[in-house]
Amino acid sequence: MTVARPLSGMEGEGAGAVTLPAGDLGRLMLHEALTWLVTPCPAWARRLGYLNAAVAFEARARRCGTHWAEHRAACHDLIETAAARCTGRRRAVVLGSGLLVEVPLAALAQRFESVMLVDAVHLAPARRLAAAYPNVTLAYAELSGCALALAGRTVAGRGDLPTPVPPALVPPVTGPPALVPLEPAPPGEPFDFAVSANVLSQLPLQPLDALHKGSALDDDAVLEFARAIIRAHLAWLPRLARSVCLITDTVEVTTETAAGPRRTGGLDRPEVIEQVDALYGVRLPPGDRQWVWRLAPAPELGARVSQQNLMHGWFEAGHLADGGLR
Ligand SMILES: C[S@@+](CC[C@H](N)C(=O)[O-])C[C@H]1O[C@@H](n2cnc3c(N)ncnc32)[C@H](O)[C@@H]1O
Repeated sequence: MTVARPLSGMEGEGAGAVTLPAGDLGRLMLHEALTWLVTPCPAWARRLGYLNAAVAFEARARRCGTHWAEHRAACHDLIETAAARCTGRRRAVVLGSGLLVEVPLAALAQRFESVMLVDAVHLAPARRLAAAYPNVTLAYAELSGCALALAGRTVAGRGDLPTPVPPALVPPVTGPPALVPLEPAPPGEPFDFAVSANVLSQLPLQPLDALHKGSALDDDAVLEFARAIIRAHLAWLPRLARSVCLITDTVEVTTETAAGPRRTGGLDRPEVIEQVDALYGVRLPPGDRQWVWRLAPAPELGARVSQQNLMHGWFEAGHLADGGLR
């Protein structure tokens, strides 16, 4: 049975329990600390923990990236196929562009006149990659549309919860990485193509973290708020662009292989020890493509523990806000 994401321990990508020689570990931690210090990003991204999560994700990509080849290929193929089906060739936007692991930037930059990459944080490898294309720009935005409103506030009841309002993204943004205005934009043309790049399940993390620190809400109210954030993103996508490609994880599965002598006819079969609904109970129809992302193979989380996420991808996700059954 898949359970709703537990409402504690939502700190995002953890560093995991890797066993490394002390010297290597020291160098890695120094690298992460330096990255945290020198990365340019908005003050809120640093304060609200988005930078921490990005640095941890980069470290995990370094440790586990070779296991991500199939996931990366599945994402690239989905996005390139969706882009090829899109008739407009002018403006594209990628939401949650992150490290650009999942994003075929060269193909997008070749196909569209301009490509805007949006995230709370753009680490150096992504900034370097983007700089290779004159028509690619970077923008910072808080995409849940409520994390800033919640920061530092005490929420006494449901009535205190902000309504998630995803930011207005005004295409095209030019010049150096820019802060995207959070006020509603003047009516303008939508983008031709948008990719929601594996950010959907991440959007509630920081807002829920803020609620856990300073609210008296019960678990049902917190879960309902997480679902509202997810639904607001899904409803926003078709307003943002004429054609929308969506990638998201839906279930996180943690498995453990048995210690000691091999069981079950000589096969060291992993056992599922936890299964978490990454979308907090929001139901979507099955993706056009489905695959498994071996996000954290052992020993990332523990000597015999692995995490894999069930991924769904839609070539056209403009209709998903209307719901449907997965
Ligand atoms: C799983 S990672 C996606 C990785 C990325 N698509 C790639 O190809 O490397 C999720 C990304 O969403 C971003 N993110 C999470 N919550 C966000 C928010 N509220 N606003 C903006 N970006 C957010 C994170 O910074 C991270 O880069």
